[in-house]
Amino acid sequence: MAKAAEPAASPPKIIWNERESKFETEDKRAYLQYYLRDVTPTVEEDEKRKITVMDMVHTFVPGSKRGLGLANRLCAAAFDHARRNSLFVVPTCSYISDTFLPRNPSWMSVVYSEDLKSSM
Ligand code: COA
Repeated sequence: MAKAAEPAASPPKIIWNERESKFETEDKRAYLQYYLRDVTPTVEEDEKRKITVMDMVHTFVPGSKRGLGLANRLCAAAFDHARRNSLFVVPTCSYISDTFLPRNPSWMSVVYSEDLKSSM
């Protein structure tokens, strides 16, 4: 008799840890670290206006869980949080700038750029 297929493991839940400025798995072993900081536009007429950005500085996934899209899920949760809270993202982490954004270009609309400074 054919064996019933194993049910697919559900993907790990991603939690917002506001106190430590992280998005992380329940066991805290995989995480995306960010910092909120104010950016002052360089355009002369905008000098008094500050924009708060989410500077995403580091993504980490333990060796045994790499290559399964976990970092992608952490980033998606963090970018979704940024969009829902009208924050722009500075993609300091190389995984985000070199892998996540090229593979998920729709999130480019949330990335902080000079052009956005004058339209906010
Ligand atoms: N910069 C850019 N891309 C990277 C990378 C890095 N430092 N490290 C791995 N990648 C790419 C891989 O090339 C891989 O591509 P592939 O799918 O073609 O094989 C892809 O990320 C895997 O994506 P995903 O499965 O979503 O990522 P992951 O869950 O394996 O985690 C890291 C990726 C980078 C978070 C993990 O490898 C890690 O913790 N590395 C050590 C810490 C680090 O270098 N962090 C990034 C700089 S802040």
